[in-house]
Amino acid sequence: MIADLTGKIAIVTGGAQGIGAGICTVLDQQGAIVVVADKNEDAANSVYSRLLNKDSSHVNVDVTDDTSVNDMTKSVISTYGSIDILVNNAGIIGAEKWWTRENGNDDDWQTTFDVNVRGVVRCSDAVTPHMLERNYGKQVNIASIAARRGGSLPFYCVTKAAVVNWTQSKAAALASSGINVNAICPGLVWTPMTQRITDHRGNFNPGTLRSGYKDKDEFDALVKDWVPMKREQTPIDIGKVAAFLASDDAQNITGQAFNVDGGIYMN
Ligand SMILES: NC(=O)c1ccc[n+]([C@@H]2O[C@H](COP(=O)([O-])OP(=O)(O)OC[C@H]3O[C@@H](n4cnc5c(N)ncnc54)[C@H](O)[C@@H]3O)[C@@H](O)[C@H]2O)c1
Repeated sequence: MIADLTGKIAIVTGGAQGIGAGICTVLDQQGAIVVVADKNEDAANSVYSRLLNKDSSHVNVDVTDDTSVNDMTKSVISTYGSIDILVNNAGIIGAEKWWTRENGNDDDWQTTFDVNVRGVVRCSDAVTPHMLERNYGKQVNIASIAARRGGSLPFYCVTKAAVVNWTQSKAAALASSGINVNAICPGLVWTPMTQRITDHRGNFNPGTLRSGYKDKDEFDALVKDWVPMKREQTPIDIGKVAAFLASDDAQNITGQAFNVDGGIYMN
C-alpha cells in the first residue's frame, strides 16, 4: 500500500473541521493513530468519534500558547510513547470578526501571524527534540496558494508565504537527522473558513470574481474560471497528499511545497 501509516502516531492541529478533518480521515484510513488537536474540543471529539482506529484521541490545544502546546506534546508521548507525524494545519484568516472589516487592522496582522506562523513554529519546536532523539519524524505544514502570489487579505497571504519559507529553513536544519519537513499549498477548498470569505464579500462587495465570492454558486463559478482542471479541491484531496508526505514513501522529499490546486500555479 502506498502511504502505509500503520501504527504511526500523528498529531493534526486544527483537526476539528474543514481541511484538518479531511487530513485526520485519510491518515486514519492509512492506519495511523490520530490525535485530533484543536481548540474547539466538541468538534474535535466529533471528528474523533468518526475515526476507524479507536486508539486515536482528541486533545484541546491552542497553538498560540506555549503551555498548551507543551502539555499536548508531553501527553501524546506519555500516552503513545512517540510522535511520528505532526501536521500543522491550524490556521485563521484574521482576528475575530475579520470579515466585518474591509481592510485588516493591527489585530488582524498580529493574530494571524501568531496562529499561522508562530503556531506552526511552536508546534514544530515542541515535537522536534523528541523526533531528533529517534532520528525519525515527518512534519507537514499546511500553507496555501496564497503563499504563491499576494492578493486581497494580505495579512493572511504573508503568513502563508512565511510558512513555505520556514518549511525550507526547518527542512534544511533537520535534513541530516531523518526528519522530513514539507508543506502543502491547497487551492480552493470549501470549508467553514472559505464560507467566511463569502461574508467579507457580502459586506464589501468587491469587484471581480477573483477577489471573492458571495455564496457556493459563486465559489463554483470561481473554480470554473480560475482552476485549469475546473474542479474544487476537497479536504480529502489535501489529506491524501499529507498522508503521502507523512509516509516513508516520501523519505527523499524534504523542504518542498506542493500546490494541490488543480493547476492554478505551476511552480
Ligand atoms: N479552505 C481553503 O480553501 C484553504 C486554502 C488554502 C489553505 N488553507 C489552510 O488550510 C488550513 C485549514 O483551513 P480550513 O479551511 O479547514 O479552516 P477552518 O477555519 O475550517 O478550520 C481551521 C481549524 O483550526 C482550528 N484553529 C484555529 N485557531 C486555532 C488555534 N489557535 N489553536 C488550535 N486550533 C485552532 C479551528 O478551531 C478549526 O477547527 C488553514 O491553515 C488554512 O489557512 C485553506
